[in-house]
Amino acid sequence: MSARTPDAAGQTSSEGDSVPLGPTGRPYREIPEPRPLDRHGPAKIIAVCNQKGGVGKTTSTINLGASLAEAGRRVLLVDLDPQGALSAGLGVPHHELEETVHNLLVAPYAATDDVLISTRVDGMDLLPSNIDLSAAEIQLVSEVGREQALARALHPVADRYDYILIDCQPSLGLLTVNALACADNVLIPMECEYFSLRGLALLTDTIDKVRDRLNPRLTLGGILVTMFDSRTLHSREVMARVVEVFGDAVFDTVISRTVRFPETSVAGEPITSWAPKSAGAEAYRNLAREVIARNEG
Ligand SMILES: Nc1ncnc2c1ncn2[C@@H]1O[C@H](COP(=O)(O)OP(=O)(O)OP(=O)(O)O)[C@@H](O)[C@H]1O
Ligand SMILES: [Mg+2]
Repeated sequence: MSARTPDAAGQTSSEGDSVPLGPTGRPYREIPEPRPLDRHGPAKIIAVCNQKGGVGKTTSTINLGASLAEAGRRVLLVDLDPQGALSAGLGVPHHELEETVHNLLVAPYAATDDVLISTRVDGMDLLPSNIDLSAAEIQLVSEVGREQALARALHPVADRYDYILIDCQPSLGLLTVNALACADNVLIPMECEYFSLRGLALLTDTIDKVRDRLNPRLTLGGILVTMFDSRTLHSREVMARVVEVFGDAVFDTVISRTVRFPETSVAGEPITSWAPKSAGAEAYRNLAREVIARNEG
C-alpha cells in the first residue's frame, strides 16, 4: 500500500491513496508563485464584507494585505468600520486622530493624502477610522451621490496601489454599499459554522443589487472559510456544504481556528510579522497567492 499524503487538514481521498485533498475536500492544487511587478497600479479594489459579526473580516484584511505587500504588491487598507478595529489591529492610536475616513466622506472634505498613513508593514498604507465614522451614514443620507462617496475619496490615490482592501463593518448599510459601489470584487470571510450559511444569501442578493444598480464591474471575488477546525465533523460538513453551494468561488486556502490571531490583535501587527512561520501566516500568504492569481491571471 502506498503512503498517504495528508494535506494541511489531514484528509485524503476516499477513492484512492494517491490524490491528496485540500481542506476544502477538493483535490489539492498548487498555487503559482506570484511574478514580480515592474510597475504599480491601477488598484484592484476588494471589499472584505459579511454582515455577520466576528467572522474574520478585519483579521483577513490585515493579514491578506500584509501578505500581498510581502509579495511585492503596493497595498492600501481602508478602515470602513467605526469600531476602528483595523486601525487598532495595526497599532494605530485611532481615538486620537483628527482626520479619518469620516473626513473623506462628509463635507467639508479632507484630502485623501492628508488622512493616509503608512504602517509598519513595508508597502502597506492605511486610511484609518474611529468612532467619528458612525455619524457618516446619517450625514450622507441627504447627499446626492451618497453611494459613491468612498469612490470619490479613493480615486486620487488608486493609481499608486495594486490592491485596495476595504474592511467593512458587520452591516449592509450605506457604508458597506459605498464599499461595494467602488469595488472590483468582494471577498467574503465566512466562519465555518452552520448558521453562517444562512446570511450568505442576503449578502449575495445585496451584491447582485449593487451590481445591477450602481456598479456593473462588481464580482464575487471569493469565499474564504475561516475558523476551520479539521478535527470536527461539524467543520467538515459545513465546508462540504459551502463548496456544494459556491463551487469554485470558495478559496482553496482555509484559515484554521487558532489563538494566534487574537494575540496579533493585542500585538497590533499582522501575523506575518508577529509569528512569521506560523500556520496562520502561511495560510494568509497562500491566500495572497490565490488572490493574485484570480486578479492578475
Ligand atoms: N482564524 C481564527 N482563529 C481564531 N480566532 C480568530 C480567527 N480569525 C479571527 N479571530 C478572532 O476572532 C475575533 C473576530 O475576528 P475579526 O475582528 O477579524 O472579525 P470581524 O468579522 O472583523 O468582526 P466584526 O464583524 O466585529 O468587524 C477577533 O478576536 C479575532 O482575533
Ligand atoms: Mg471587523
